[in-house]
Amino acid sequence: MTSSTDPAERPHRRIRSYVQRSSRLGPRLQGHWDRFAPTYLVPIEHEEASMSIASGAALDPSALFGRVAPLVLEIGSGRGEMIAHGAEQRPERDHLACEVYTPGVAGILGRVGRAELTNVRLVHADATALLEYVLPAGSLDELWVFFPDPWHKSRHHKRRLINDEFASLAARVLKPGGIWRIATDWPDYADQVDRVLTASQDFDGGRTDRFDLRPLTRFEQKAHAEGRGVADFAAVRR
Ligand SMILES: C[S@@+](CC[C@H](N)C(=O)[O-])C[C@H]1O[C@@H](n2cnc3c(N)ncnc32)[C@H](O)[C@@H]1O
Repeated sequence: MTSSTDPAERPHRRIRSYVQRSSRLGPRLQGHWDRFAPTYLVPIEHEEASMSIASGAALDPSALFGRVAPLVLEIGSGRGEMIAHGAEQRPERDHLACEVYTPGVAGILGRVGRAELTNVRLVHADATALLEYVLPAGSLDELWVFFPDPWHKSRHHKRRLINDEFASLAARVLKPGGIWRIATDWPDYADQVDRVLTASQDFDGGRTDRFDLRPLTRFEQKAHAEGRGVADFAAVRR
């Protein structure tokens, strides 16, 4: 049997939208993890030695938050600026952050923990399974994907998170009338998002004004410094 050196490119495996990086934490981030993971981290089983969620896993959002409330999922929360700000500004909504990068998750834990937010939980895993089978169908009011990794080289475009398949998975978890919000600072990724939304039978929408709840993260600051604009999208689940 032949196998590629890059696990993401082996046949019969889903192509990954991320690179599996070091999960080592320094003392500050380890401190956040030890202090806040018991409250905020969703206990979820992974497939062995991977960030994929085990098949058959399921989450009940109302059990997770202890109430029934509108639910927001953010994929690729990075350092958590957006999820923490959104949760603070809209206490009546529950917020699920999903991030694969371990130091990022520790940073988010520190941010939401120190702010004592009660309407945030974190999933430390590849988000794909959340959309595919872990979350109940029609359970989301909002899905956020802000500044997804651009994967510039054309041979890497297949690793971009947002594509036709992702749109179908997003349609499964968003309730009718639910909103999928996206932002990117890379014009050719914005064109790809345009194509995906136009082709989808499940969504109405496209480019829109800047989402006013979105704080200025380092990705947007860098884009401005480099003279790139940011494209925001909003699409409503039919
Ligand atoms: C370019 S960063 C943007 C972070 C953040 N949204 C912001 O605006 O600052 C993209 C993030 O998405 C995460 N990511 C990529 N693919 C993912 C996946 N399949 N599931 C969860 N997180 C993912 C990466 O680890 C990275 O932290």
